[in-house]
Amino acid sequence: MSGHSTYVPKSALGRWFESRLPIMGLIHGSFVVYPVPRNLNYFWTFGGILSFMLICQIITGIVLAMHYTPHVDYAFASVEYIMRDVNWGWVIRYTHANGASMFFIAVYLHMLRGLYYGSYKAPREVLWILGVIIYLLMMATGFMGYVLPWGQMSFWGATVITNLFSAIPLVGDAITTWLWGGYSVDNPTLNRFFSLHYLLPFMIAAVVVLHVWALHVTGQNNPAGVEVKNVERDTLPFTPYATVKDGFALLCFLIFFSWFVFYAPNYLGHADNYVEANPLVTPAHIVPEWYYLPFYAILRAIPSKLGGVMAMFGAIVVLAFLPWLDTSRVKSAAYRPLYKFFFWLFVVSCLGLGFLGAKPPEGAYVIASRLLTLYYFGFFLIIMPLLGLFETPKPVPASIADAVLAKNSAHAQAHS
Ligand code: HEM
Repeated sequence: MSGHSTYVPKSALGRWFESRLPIMGLIHGSFVVYPVPRNLNYFWTFGGILSFMLICQIITGIVLAMHYTPHVDYAFASVEYIMRDVNWGWVIRYTHANGASMFFIAVYLHMLRGLYYGSYKAPREVLWILGVIIYLLMMATGFMGYVLPWGQMSFWGATVITNLFSAIPLVGDAITTWLWGGYSVDNPTLNRFFSLHYLLPFMIAAVVVLHVWALHVTGQNNPAGVEVKNVERDTLPFTPYATVKDGFALLCFLIFFSWFVFYAPNYLGHADNYVEANPLVTPAHIVPEWYYLPFYAILRAIPSKLGGVMAMFGAIVVLAFLPWLDTSRVKSAAYRPLYKFFFWLFVVSCLGLGFLGAKPPEGAYVIASRLLTLYYFGFFLIIMPLLGLFETPKPVPASIADAVLAKNSAHAQAHS
């Protein structure tokens, strides 16, 4: 599907180099002449935004690491030193901390786009599964990064989450001790979390390369959910069309991001993390970062510890099976009225779980969490397989060009 590169270097040196390493041709084929469906909407700009955010996190992270000390006696103070004494340290730290949240906002929109338009279905199963692996790596990276400032939430969050492994029968305690490198979250834990937090983004970058490679094999899905049939009629070249659109979307996203960095840099964080970690004082409520809250709610909705842990991890693992759980032959929700309804209900239940994850696990909150957890799994395991069999989809356009023309003629009629 990659655009056949017609790239010919202009200079003799360029031609000499290209015949030895055709990298300019690869870039030209992938980002200049690469054909993109002509009906893509702004939800297709988040892949580019995510690539930008990954680079932003890596660069700010490397600079932070130059000034940070991964030792329980110095970590908290070294972060305050970055904030107060390092030139521009505060911008770098706030960009990195808020950048993590922005990264998750973008990834959730990117994933929901896939869920809505059926982008996980054949032939994009491997592309989707690589996405799920990236998401798991992102969760691990965010979790370990949050431990590094060695505040109260860092310490207690790490304690709660690592303790979950002790629920595994027989070997659970041994695994937890192994993860800690001791008998509680302490200096060895902080050291290894720092090391892994530095490593994982590069692993994410490697999986992103595979992700984009897989994308360029199958080509992009699109809002109509029908494959490209005629490259001339159905697609446009990546440059200038997608480049300009992605650039504009990135600019808007950066304005939103900057607003948090400059006007509300601590809004998405927790005040307790400005108190240095103290193993002798447990905070009143231990809450993870907002992007983990729905899973935290699922964990606490199940009365048994092992069951909760399995449900929490299961909630992510189930995503990898979507290509086979969804039995519908129609991809896009635009032509699936019933799926569309259940999809939005799913979005609302995820937001509800997020809200409940921040509340104490008592009374009505627990009941609500249980109901929403039931819907979360019911949506994937029962509704998706059954809908494909019973739903009557609306007529699907024969091609991408037809979908665009149908929209345009509806517009023209409305305005005549
Ligand atoms: C660091 C994180 C990620 C990066 C940098 C990234 C990058 C990209 C890019 C550049 C595209 C093409 C442009 C677009 O469709 O927006 C794309 C498409 C796609 N991504 Fe990701 N992605 C990431 C995470 C994920 C995750 C977590 C999932 C799902 C679990 C996922 C699933 C998909 C799918 C299914 C497509 C094809 C969409 C379509 O053509 O309709 N990605 N990704």
